[in-house]
This record gives sequence, C-alpha cells and structure tokens, in this order.
Amino acid sequence: MKQPIRVAVTGAAGQIGYSLLFRIASGAMLGADQPVILQLLDITPSLPALNGVVMELDDCAFPLLHGIIQSDDPKVAFKDADIALLVGARPRGPGMERKDLLEANGAIFTAQGRALNEVASRDVKVLVVGNPANTNAYIAMKNAPDLNPANFTAMMRLDHNRAMTQVAQKTGTTINDVKKMIIWGNHSATQYPDVFHAEVKGTNAATLINDQKWLETEFIPTVQQRGAAIIKARGLSSAASAANAAIDHIRNWVLGTPEGDWVTMGVPANGEYGYSDLIYGYPVTCKDGKYSIVNGLEISEFSRARMDATAKELSEERDAVKHLLA
Ligand code: NAD
Ligand code: LMR
Repeated sequence: MKQPIRVAVTGAAGQIGYSLLFRIASGAMLGADQPVILQLLDITPSLPALNGVVMELDDCAFPLLHGIIQSDDPKVAFKDADIALLVGARPRGPGMERKDLLEANGAIFTAQGRALNEVASRDVKVLVVGNPANTNAYIAMKNAPDLNPANFTAMMRLDHNRAMTQVAQKTGTTINDVKKMIIWGNHSATQYPDVFHAEVKGTNAATLINDQKWLETEFIPTVQQRGAAIIKARGLSSAASAANAAIDHIRNWVLGTPEGDWVTMGVPANGEYGYSDLIYGYPVTCKDGKYSIVNGLEISEFSRARMDATAKELSEERDAVKHLLA
C-alpha cells in the first residue's frame, strides 16, 4: 500500500467542496491505489456544516480515506500538505464580473500563502479555484517566498472542458475525438478559447469547422460567458463541474497527460508567448509530477490580439492587489 498523500481543501463546507471531497476520497483524483488524508479548512461559522460533511465522508467507508482533519486554522489544515486546493472564497452573484471579488477574496490568499509557506510540504502543489482564481494564485505565490513559484496554479480547466464540449457538439463527435484545446489567459470574460491548434479526429478543428462567424459570435462568447450563464440558470455558481475540473487538473499534474494531447493550466508566466509576472492560462503537458508549457505554437494576428487583451486584464488585476503582495 502506498503512503497516504495529504490533500488540503479550503472552503470544504461549500458547494464545490461537497462535490469535490467525495471524489477525492474515492480515488478519482489520485488513483485507485492511492490513499489520501483530507485536511479540511473552513471559517469558524462554517465548522458545524463542515462537521456534517465529515460525518458523511465517514459514512461512505472509503477504503482510500486514511484520515480527516477539520479546522478553521490554515496552519493546521496546511500542515505537511502535498496538495492544496484553495476553493474557499465568495462566489459572484448575477451581474458581477469575477474581478469584482478581488476586494472580498484577495486578502484570504495573503494569509493562506503565508500559512502554506510556513507549514506545507516543500513540494506542495497548489491549485487556486476561488475567484478571481489567477490573481488569487498570484497573491498566494507572492506570499510564499520559500516555496517553488511554479507550484502555484490557477484553474482554467473548467473553461478548457467547456470548450471541448462546444467543439464536440459542433462537429458531431465525442470528447474522446477532441484534442489540444487551449484557453489562453485569465479565467474571466477576456479568456481566449483557441481552436486553431485543436484537433478533431486528427484534423485541425478550425479547418474542419470552417466557420469563422461561429467561432467569433458563438464559440468564444459561449465559453467566456458560461460561468455567468450557469449563475443565471441555477441561481448559484457552477459547483459539480468546477469540482470535476479541479480533479482533472490535479490528476493530470500528478499522473501525467496522455500522449498526443495537452491541457490548460493557469501557471506563472516567465516570458512564454511574451507574457511574464502573471498567472496565465497556457497549454501544458505533464510528466513525473511536473508540467511544461507547450512552446513554439504559431500565433495568428487574430489570436495575438485576444491573448494580449486577457494579459492586459491580468496585469490590471495584479496592479490592483499590490497592497496584498509580500
Ligand atoms: P460557497 O459559498 O458555496 O463555498 C465557499 C466556502 O468557502 C464556504 O464554506 C465558506 O465558509 C468558505 N470560506 C470563505 N472564506 C474562507 C476562508 N478564508 N478560508 C476557508 N474557507 C473560507 O462557494 P463555492 O460555490 O464553493 O465557490 C467557491 C469559490 O470558487 C468561489 O470564489 C467561486 O467563484 C469559485 N469558482 C471558481 C471556478 C473556477 O473555474 N476557477 C469555478 C467555480 C467556482
Ligand atoms: C465559473 O466559471 O463557473 C466560475 O468561475 C463561477 C463564476 O463566477 O463564473
């Protein structure tokens, strides 16, 4: 039996937490032979609800679940964590953009970055889900100077999965046929879902679809606005699909990406495609627990304008949180 992996989850009593924890404990994230210890964090008023979730986890009798810690103290929840899923933050409501949450949520990631820096495993892999995810990941990274900045990532995988389905539906194929999707930039309405490198059954997706109007007026806006459409329809922000994307993100990071495909992760930009000092959505391949940005893709003028626009928004968000950076 392998040694258990310690998985910290913040906002564990929330909506996403409720869709996420049971799947982690069942082995969906790290594999059917990998035991886990869940280290759950929420704020003090949410601890009774968290305790209810823990009772349900107990009642599932998951063979892979080797322990559960619950706390309102990040230093307890992050102690020796190998993986940290930072979900806990306020969701937006109708009519808000995700960056409107910076004020309410940014400070959470200062404190949590510091706590990770102090007590987590030196190799901790961090995924920020709480919005605005890219800039919150940037805040946490800057407040954790002793940890590897490359290990701070933001969730773009929900956008990636959304785009895959739009293309599969448009081409009358299934998800299994769609490869090499990219979501450049920010998890926000400026994100750029790019099908020009994607493939459907091995054929270039843009060539196969051959419908620039559909790309510009349907595909791109649908993916960009999907979060808002779900909030409008459900009255609550996406939760099960967000939890699923978090599982996909970590599973690929830890266990690797399939040959001939890549995934999108929000990762620190260090000059790739001309961007730096941001957490930017890039195509990455993963192997042996490490990701590498896919370099050298040809970028058209159409794509470049959109990639620059989302980078600009990220730099504005970064400038707005200067006071939260160490
Ligand atoms: P929710 O309100 O149901 O749950 C949030 C939980 O976080 C609550 O239990 C709350 O008590 C807790 N929390 C608040 N402050 C905390 C803190 N300082 N430390 C620990 N826990 C804290 O919200 P949700 O629907 O689960 O969404 C959580 C976040 O994820 C939101 O910001 C939402 O916008 C974001 N989100 C991101 C994506 C993405 O693709 N990146 C997708 C969906 C949702
Ligand atoms: C999403 O994309 O569904 C989440 O980020 C929630 C939101 O505010 O859109």
